[in-house]
Amino acid sequence: MNILILGSGGREHSLAWAVMQNPKCDRLIVAPGNAGIAQIADCAALDIENGGAVVGFAEENAIDFVIVGPEAPLAAGVADRLREAGVLVFGPSAEAALLEASKSFTKEVCDAANAPTAAYARFTEAEPAKAYIREHGAPIVVKADGLAAGKGVIVAMDEQTALDAIDDMFGGTFGGAGAEVVIEEFMEGEEASLFVLCDGEDILSIGTAQDHKRVGEGDTGLNTGGMGAYSPAPVLNEEVEARAMEEIVRPTMAEMQRRGTPFQGVLYAGLMIQDGKPRLVEYNVRFGDPECQVLMMRLGAQVLDLLHAAAEGRLRDAQVNWADDHAMTVVMAARGYPGAYEKGTVIRGLNDLSEDSRTMVFHAGTKAADGQIVASGGRVLNVTARADTLSEARDNAYSLADGVDWPDGFFRRDIGWRALG
Ligand code: AMP
Ligand code: GLY
Repeated sequence: MNILILGSGGREHSLAWAVMQNPKCDRLIVAPGNAGIAQIADCAALDIENGGAVVGFAEENAIDFVIVGPEAPLAAGVADRLREAGVLVFGPSAEAALLEASKSFTKEVCDAANAPTAAYARFTEAEPAKAYIREHGAPIVVKADGLAAGKGVIVAMDEQTALDAIDDMFGGTFGGAGAEVVIEEFMEGEEASLFVLCDGEDILSIGTAQDHKRVGEGDTGLNTGGMGAYSPAPVLNEEVEARAMEEIVRPTMAEMQRRGTPFQGVLYAGLMIQDGKPRLVEYNVRFGDPECQVLMMRLGAQVLDLLHAAAEGRLRDAQVNWADDHAMTVVMAARGYPGAYEKGTVIRGLNDLSEDSRTMVFHAGTKAADGQIVASGGRVLNVTARADTLSEARDNAYSLADGVDWPDGFFRRDIGWRALG
């Protein structure tokens, strides 16, 4: 198979790394890719949010299968254009991608599916939204309806913060994404994520993970795209996972099918778990980043067969071969992230690290310049390890991270603290 992966982050590097190990992969192109991906696959410049351009590229390069990494091309209908052109693709249609692109859409679907989630109300004007906040009081959660690069959610611990968030959102801080606002009940509990392949009809869980969204140790400081992750998530044990599948994911997928917009791809269910009961926080319609990196580490080459089965509607007969293992990824970020940071700082020592099927440094934001690897983003490297226990995976990941010579980078030392006790 000739395979095209769309994206340029650590998620796509880990997908490429796993897919490459499968003998069914003849040729792999990643667009646009990054410096780490370029070491294992061909990279190509391509506007991945332009469906016409992606279809043209796939046809020119005799691509048999396209795997879409990030949400933006999905929301832009790139998977639709590929399917219309007869190119096999892993990833939902733009209409099914609304499960991530619109919070009010997701709430509507959850209502219809009777899936447990936070109580909510929707508003298109500030005054009634504020009245609702005053009536319900804090803590309360204010969300911009649309895609806001992970920044459109304000968990307000006091009323004034919630009221200010309403002014910000209707004042245009999030552009069109804030034209509608969802206000939600604050849910208590522990968060974890469940990743489920869907082929429009059947579903297959491919693992659980937990990430650390705050920049600082002890989960303090500003929110980021994720500073580290591990899999499996102890709080999402077999029983809780079975409940989440039966009470949340399966009815949601059935409702999408009933609406005539079946979901095909990976559904990332962000869950809040309290006393063994899961409730939905949010859906994403793609793999998490950096959660994907730990899932790929654990699944390896079979990932290609699983994604291919989902794209071809063959999940009913598919199964995951699990090893009883654990994986952890530690994100190395540019000093200053998630605030202002310098680009172009040189990273040394990567060639001296020993990488194999149990330890890998995935590149998230790097490029090659004058024969050197330089940082080109905020989150730059994902140092990832797999082992029989989580503490061994942690030790291996951190000893790898300590081998990277990058004075302009930093990482959290406490990834996995909750699970490690
Ligand atoms: P979202 O983009 O919807 O995942 O929200 C970002 C983060 O805000 C989540 O990962 C949670 O930590 C938090 N959050 C969102 N909704 C709620 C809620 N209803 N109750 C408590 N925390 C929430
Ligand atoms: N790590 C969170 C996300 O990918 O949305």
